[in-house]
Amino acid sequence: MDGIDLLTSTEQAVVATDLEGRITHFNRRAEQLYGWPATEVVGQPAASVLLPPRQLGRVQEIVRELVRGRVFAGEFPIVRRNGKELLAWMLAYPHRRDGAISGIVTIAMRSRRGSRALQKRKQDLRLRGLLRAIPDMVFRIRRDGVYTDFAGLEDGLLASPEAFLGRTVRELLPPATAALVEDAIARSFQTKAVTTIAYELDMGAGPQIFEARLAPIDDREVVTVVRDVTQHFLWRDELDNQVAERTVALQRANRKLNELSKQLLIAHDEERGRIASELHDHQAQLLTALSLSLENCRREVPESDRYIAMAQPIVDELTRQVRELSLALRPPDFGAIGLIGAVEEHIARFGQQTGMRISFWPYVSLQLPRAAEITAYRIIQESLTNAARARATHVVIQMKRAGDAIEITVDDNGRGFDPTTVDRSRTSGLTGMRERSLLAGGTFLVESSPGSGTRVLFTLPIMKEGDREQDDRDRG
Ligand SMILES: Nc1ncnc2c1ncn2[C@@H]1O[C@H](COP(=O)(O)OP(=O)(O)O)[C@@H](O)[C@H]1O
Ligand SMILES: [Mg+2]
Repeated sequence: MDGIDLLTSTEQAVVATDLEGRITHFNRRAEQLYGWPATEVVGQPAASVLLPPRQLGRVQEIVRELVRGRVFAGEFPIVRRNGKELLAWMLAYPHRRDGAISGIVTIAMRSRRGSRALQKRKQDLRLRGLLRAIPDMVFRIRRDGVYTDFAGLEDGLLASPEAFLGRTVRELLPPATAALVEDAIARSFQTKAVTTIAYELDMGAGPQIFEARLAPIDDREVVTVVRDVTQHFLWRDELDNQVAERTVALQRANRKLNELSKQLLIAHDEERGRIASELHDHQAQLLTALSLSLENCRREVPESDRYIAMAQPIVDELTRQVRELSLALRPPDFGAIGLIGAVEEHIARFGQQTGMRISFWPYVSLQLPRAAEITAYRIIQESLTNAARARATHVVIQMKRAGDAIEITVDDNGRGFDPTTVDRSRTSGLTGMRERSLLAGGTFLVESSPGSGTRVLFTLPIMKEGDREQDDRDRG
């Protein structure tokens, strides 16, 4: 049995050729490895059928060595019938007959390392495809600042990868940016966490903004993902501008609204003033006339005396009530006596009417806008009325400065109540007080509980410098 016949029955793929390189033996394993049936390849030139054409030079070199009696062992790519290449581990040696070299025997098997290397290349390609699709640049940088690898978009690079790989951050980036990156590298090693920095670079077409995220991959290198975020900043600027514009518009609308509510308060009070004058000038006059007529009647018709004596006290009471109502409705003349004077006047009158003791601790150098003065006066007035109804015997009114506002408290020792149970939609007193103070730009609070008196606390903004002119106009 020929030595080659023996080999063709082994578990390896065996191919034998003559000295011209034509295939003489092709075993079953070879059929499997190369994908060809022996009948089709025997007699064909082995190199052009089984090996990649681009390897021809190397094949000739190896063959030269083999015919001189040398052996080749190593990895070599082969081509299968379907055109696919794979890496094989090969052993080739000369075949001798009668002492003379008569051909070459090649034993091949699929290289495991080869298939793994191929797989890795495939993976690399896949990874590269992925990285190309991501709008980021990925660098590996050594602890000492040397760039060791790059992947991703090359458009955003300062220099081509060949030009900067192996060079340092300090050599490539402007000093300030390099310092920032070096610091971030040190920090990510220290914290073992992702460090994010942002910097500006001029790539020729104006400054661009980059965000870099650095993460250590071992104790020697960091991987950093760099993204051009210029567009985001532009969008953010745009958004900021829009917000600023809207804010200005909103402030303008707010000021207008404020102005309107102030005018409303003033108009409301003027209306009350008109009703007060009406009551005083007409109804009170008519009542006086009625009283005089009754008096005349009693004098002229003595029999009517009994009836007149009944009617007169009713007319007197009506007159008193109309006068009181007129006084309560009349806006005090702040111009002449100021808010404090007006409150003092009201306290004196109201204390006398009700018998309550009312203490007043004013804040003397008070400067309130016109609308706020009206508000303060009306809230105090309404609080006193509520206190009288709640059978208070003592009320304390205090004013004090609290930052840019005046804080006014009205404490009474009346029967108290639970403010949460007051139906806001029905009552007009407390609701009106709250609305007035909020309209005037202040705050409002009622503290009370049954049996323990009541505190009304409200604040009003003090006049600012710019308000004075407008305020003079409000005062007419
Ligand atoms: N100072 C107070 N002491 C006790 N109860 C009060 C006081 N202020 C208000 N209240 C209670 O809250 C209710 C609502 O008050 P308000 O809104 O002023 O309406 P009104 O005075 O017309 O009843 C009052 O009816 C009263 O029960
Ligand atoms: Mg009331």
